Amino acid sequence: MYSHHNALGLARRTLAGQRLCTACGADIANTSPVQPVMLLRPHVARAAARYFVEHFHGTTLYAVKANPSPDLLRALWLGGIRAFDVASLAEVRLVAETLPGARLAFMHPVKAEEAIAEAYQAYGVRIFSLDSHDELAKIMRATGNAPDLTLCVRIAVSSEHAKLSLATKFGTLPEELPGLLMAARQAADALGLCFHVGSQTMAPQAYSHALERARAAIVASGVTVDVVDVGGGFPSIYPGMEPEALGGYFEVIHKGFEDLPISYSAELWCEPGRALSAEYSSLIVRVEKRRGDELYINDGAYGALFDAAHIGWRFPVKLLRASGARVQAFSFYGPTCDDLDHMAGPFMLPEDIAVGDYIEIGMLGAYGAAMRTGFNGFGMGETHIVSDAPMASMYADDEGVSALPRQHKTG
Ligand SMILES: Cc1ncc(COP(=O)(O)O)c(C=O)c1O
Repeated sequence: MYSHHNALGLARRTLAGQRLCTACGADIANTSPVQPVMLLRPHVARAAARYFVEHFHGTTLYAVKANPSPDLLRALWLGGIRAFDVASLAEVRLVAETLPGARLAFMHPVKAEEAIAEAYQAYGVRIFSLDSHDELAKIMRATGNAPDLTLCVRIAVSSEHAKLSLATKFGTLPEELPGLLMAARQAADALGLCFHVGSQTMAPQAYSHALERARAAIVASGVTVDVVDVGGGFPSIYPGMEPEALGGYFEVIHKGFEDLPISYSAELWCEPGRALSAEYSSLIVRVEKRRGDELYINDGAYGALFDAAHIGWRFPVKLLRASGARVQAFSFYGPTCDDLDHMAGPFMLPEDIAVGDYIEIGMLGAYGAAMRTGFNGFGMGETHIVSDAPMASMYADDEGVSALPRQHKTG
């Protein structure tokens, strides 16, 4: 890494390292980007998809909300994912246009009746989730009492092992389940049970506890169940959150599924979002100001760092130049004008970091990249495709994935 002076006489730094964009050939390392640069790693998304396809004993649906980028959808398809969990009509259209052969499941338990009708009639969607009699009535009206529906009843389960709760908003309570399951059974061609144990679930037992709830519901209602969908929640790796390998999660789920009172032909599904997309993107930001241990960078709460600002999520960071200095804890301010645009971290970076330095922030492929806005005119930088390893990986032990250790190396 070196500094030089440009025409304005300003000290300017370039990014360090050997990095070419595999799509446009740009020499990313020798640029001095003024806007944040998003780096994409489709090879890593393919590897993650392959891992689920090969190791999960059932069908993996990618939860599109985690990152709806068409390039990512195509990478997952190349890795073997053929089914997609969509939450809105816009996601239905997006996947149908990007991957015409994809199987779509509309898994938001509360949908507009018009969205259900268009999904069914125009896009061939046959799988819907619900957690109330009202929603069941909507689905039946919107599809003209279709005889070919797979209806998945969402059951309420705990988020106690998850870093992000999904426990209170959706899900049928135990006392209401038998009635709703019997009504859905009568209306459906295939009946499913689904749940979500919360995002970034740190203990596989979350799934066995939820499958126990599913067992109780099946026993109490006496219905035949054709599909058990264990939802998302599979973790990725972030500083301070280092889960056990995904194989351990799959083992618990496979055992819990086998123990359910369901037929041999019943199907097992899962809907990972984060686990398939987190490693896909990282972001290069520039330091515009330093005030002690606070760094003012050019992306933030309204950009890809929503989770870092609003729920205190930590992401791995790396200074993009050589430095022998000791690392210390920093917090970040984003580029907009309000105090909310603050990421407490701590983010561990060399103590000699200065204005003009570039930082790579890793593991932003899930939710972060999807939630970027153009608020205040920020956040509209370039995107490049790179072939290096992500800053952390759940798939590093798997054949064909990079040689990175499972744990991340930096802050
Ligand atoms: C119904 C449903 N399925 C799957 C997911 C994906 O969850 P995760 O990213 O934790 O895997 C979500 C996330 O909100 C969801 O609501």
